[in-house]
Amino acid sequence: MTTAPLALDERAARADADDALAPLAERFVLPDGVIYLDGNSLGPLPAAVPPAVTDVVTRQWGTDLIGSWNDNGWWDAPLRIGDTIGRLVGAAPGQTVAGDSTSVHLFTALTAAAALRPDRRFLVTDPGHFPTDRYLAEAVARRQDRLEVRRIAPPDLDAFLAEEGDQVAVVSYAPVDFRTGELYDMAATTEAAHRAGALAVWDLCHAAGAMPLHLDAQEVDFAVGCGYKFLNGGPGAPAYLYVAHRHHTSFETPVTGWNGHANPFGADRDYSPAPGIARARIGTPPILSLLALEAALTVFEDVDLAQVRAKSMSLTEFFLRCATELLTPLGIESVTPPDPSRRGSHIALRHPHALGLTHALAQRGVIIDMRAPDLLRFGVNALYTTHRQLLTAARHLQEIMQESAYDPEPPRTGPVT
Ligand SMILES: Cc1ncc(COP(=O)(O)O)c(C=O)c1O
Repeated sequence: MTTAPLALDERAARADADDALAPLAERFVLPDGVIYLDGNSLGPLPAAVPPAVTDVVTRQWGTDLIGSWNDNGWWDAPLRIGDTIGRLVGAAPGQTVAGDSTSVHLFTALTAAAALRPDRRFLVTDPGHFPTDRYLAEAVARRQDRLEVRRIAPPDLDAFLAEEGDQVAVVSYAPVDFRTGELYDMAATTEAAHRAGALAVWDLCHAAGAMPLHLDAQEVDFAVGCGYKFLNGGPGAPAYLYVAHRHHTSFETPVTGWNGHANPFGADRDYSPAPGIARARIGTPPILSLLALEAALTVFEDVDLAQVRAKSMSLTEFFLRCATELLTPLGIESVTPPDPSRRGSHIALRHPHALGLTHALAQRGVIIDMRAPDLLRFGVNALYTTHRQLLTAARHLQEIMQESAYDPEPPRTGPVT
């Protein structure tokens, strides 16, 4: 027995004993015996959600019926909940709308941003961007003849802008790489885009709720994000769209539904956009999901996101240490940057049998996910993850590998791992 495991135990115990955020775990319903490291894919259930949903269904819908659109605040929910999310991403009120999906909002954001730069050719996006972001960039470009997608990895953006900057309409990136967990510099990228005269569109799915964001202060133009990862709004939770105030009089939405009309109940003959972010509303909002998301967001009440970020960095740092000591000798390598300031809130480990290992961990109550072909993703959430859980997860993986207790070629059991 080496002394290293003891040192890890001690480190975990000390870090958890010093953890001021530890009581926040009580705001979640987490099954006993499960170590949940997949909140970067589907956040767990906040304890505030079941009673809120029961109230929406039984009292608001069941008793108050259609009057709830006014009396229970249903009509205002997209903008009210948008503002709540806005507080988490550094957006002053009146710039964020909740509802629809990230993909739909991306289509709106990319279309609207490109239309604000009508004389430019390039829509620049990350070749490693989440698939929906890449597909939608292509879709938007196909619908505007002058536009062409250029796939430029974040480290190459400056060089590209130096060459072609005056032709760039929009740059579209994510602060956190969904595969590797690498964190990019939003402020510098947004500034570089602006220097070139382009607009910046950000996908915050893997960042919002996990770290402080500064959309207003960094002069981001458009941003989108989902409600079901670090915001814990539940499966398929409504997403959100941020549009900076300065674009409110000029941005046009491509999906001109009646909810975004200036006079939504007037049945006017022609479309006329509502003032401000309200024009990015589309159709009747998904009230049950929106109000579940609103209840979920109460977990952030009195929570300082700077503290969340500090603990998240401590957790990922500790897990990397566990991986180096326990797993690297067995052939597992991390693809997440070792520098904590360049990491989001998950660690990705590479192994050719990632799927089999993910299943074997699940059988032991450690829930992670994998991204094809060979990455195991361990998501940490400072609101409920402990250092001890990470050490236990790493030890399980070590044992599984030492004992070859996994199926190297498991059958795929469904679309989601
Ligand atoms: C960065 C990123 N963007 C978008 C999505 C998904 O988009 P949608 O919410 O429309 O399914 C994901 C899902 O994991 C994601 O990681």
